[in-house]
Amino acid sequence: MASKSRSKERPPAAAPPAPACTMVIFGAAGDLAKRLLVPALYNLSEARLLSDDFRILGVDHSPLDDAEIRKSLGGFLKNLASSKDSEFGQAKIDPGAWKRIADKLFYQVGDFEDDASYRALAERLETIGGKGGGSVLFYLAVAPRFFGDVVERLAKAGLATAPKGCFRRVVIEKPFGDDLASARTLNRRITKCLEERQIYRIDHFLGKETVRNIMVTRFGNGVFEPLWNRLHIDSVQIMAAETVGVELRGGYYDKAGALRDMVPNHLFQLLTMIAMEPPNSFSADDVRTEKSKVMEAIRTQTAKEAAVDGVRGQYRAGKVAGKKMAAYRDSPNVAPRSRTETFVALKLAIDNWRWAGVPFYLRTGKAMSGHDTEIAIQFKAAPQTLFQDLPTGGSKPNVLVLQIQPKEGISLLFDAKCPGPDVRLADVRMDFCYADWFKAMPATGYETLIYDCLTGDQTLFKRADEIEFAWRAVMPFLESWRHGGEVYGYAAGEDGPREADALLARDGRRWRPVGT
Ligand code: BG6
Repeated sequence: MASKSRSKERPPAAAPPAPACTMVIFGAAGDLAKRLLVPALYNLSEARLLSDDFRILGVDHSPLDDAEIRKSLGGFLKNLASSKDSEFGQAKIDPGAWKRIADKLFYQVGDFEDDASYRALAERLETIGGKGGGSVLFYLAVAPRFFGDVVERLAKAGLATAPKGCFRRVVIEKPFGDDLASARTLNRRITKCLEERQIYRIDHFLGKETVRNIMVTRFGNGVFEPLWNRLHIDSVQIMAAETVGVELRGGYYDKAGALRDMVPNHLFQLLTMIAMEPPNSFSADDVRTEKSKVMEAIRTQTAKEAAVDGVRGQYRAGKVAGKKMAAYRDSPNVAPRSRTETFVALKLAIDNWRWAGVPFYLRTGKAMSGHDTEIAIQFKAAPQTLFQDLPTGGSKPNVLVLQIQPKEGISLLFDAKCPGPDVRLADVRMDFCYADWFKAMPATGYETLIYDCLTGDQTLFKRADEIEFAWRAVMPFLESWRHGGEVYGYAAGEDGPREADALLARDGRRWRPVGT
């Protein structure tokens, strides 16, 4: 029988085009819009998932007009397509697909902090979208300090209220607050102006196919879920290792650090997908309620406990993949004596019936030896009595690895008998690799998220309660570090400081190697 492993199945695009709407991008001249949003819109246009009446209105400080923004974004897109390391996924631009976007791309100079700009925006929306302005998706691709202000000014200008039969929605980028208090304040400010169903708090990890596949793996298959609990699982490791350093983002990163940048958002989204109960349905609220319950069940430690269960590191000069990398402190816009962490390792507990006693180890860092985002579910070992006296040692615990990126797939590690007359055990792995089975659609990761905003599906967006529970769980670590404590050094190209290994070693465990 022919193997199916090379069949490159690409499911037919069953989704209909999204409803007509104007997408207003605040920060249209910025990096996010250029590198991710416009390429994602291009991919949606090429896949015929945008309405013929889809329009984009860019708003920013830069003095541009419609013709200039079309030229500038079109040129940028072409360069992205020809660049090898871009996330765009297209090798060349189809003029028809770009024209469908460019013809409906407009620009307005605006000051995010000036009410007059919002009055002008309302008028422009009438011109572009017809009487009342029609349906509008406001995308806040701006610095976080503007989030609350922009939403309040939109509401003040009457732009948050939709004309009959239309919608008004607002997408808010990360970081959503920089601690629990600021996240609460921001939630309070925006929910005074908008209903929760209008708010789309984005986390780009949820746009990744492999992240969304976690729910399918768990709840669409019969074999995994019966084992998915404290009786069979020993521990869970969630890792997001990056080879890049801080690059030119020192201004933001030196204030944020690895924990704020990655943990309460991206890593916790992975954690909730792994740990949530099956939702009653796949409706946005049923899914988000289950995720929120897990987030709420993450144990809130005392600062003293957190000091023991959290390890910080900062990279010094070193070599990553054979290339020299300067120390974090020598990067642009980083304080010369900065104590900001570029690596963090945490041990967390989830206090609920399913996970009582199962440690969740999280680790993320910049300038590590490999680029590797994965979740490893380590099962409890089989009883050792049968094989423990073999020269190869007893059987090893099984591990199910969900590989998020750059390799995308699932692997099961288990023991097999080595061929030959005697009994010897060997570790083997069974791999499912996305690229072998499916023909990938070109994607930046933002396509699904934008399409969901346009169609009104909030499943992949964070609700106010999820965000606050997440911040609550990490606050003890931030508190414990505020009062001092070590920021351990590691050379660029190493996988964090030795102290992070000790965090697991004291429990008799080890981190999985990066890049395997
Ligand atoms: C961003 C962080 O949200 O996610 C970055 O600010 C990080 O520091 C990035 O590099 C990782 O995302 P991805 O999709 O490249 O794994």
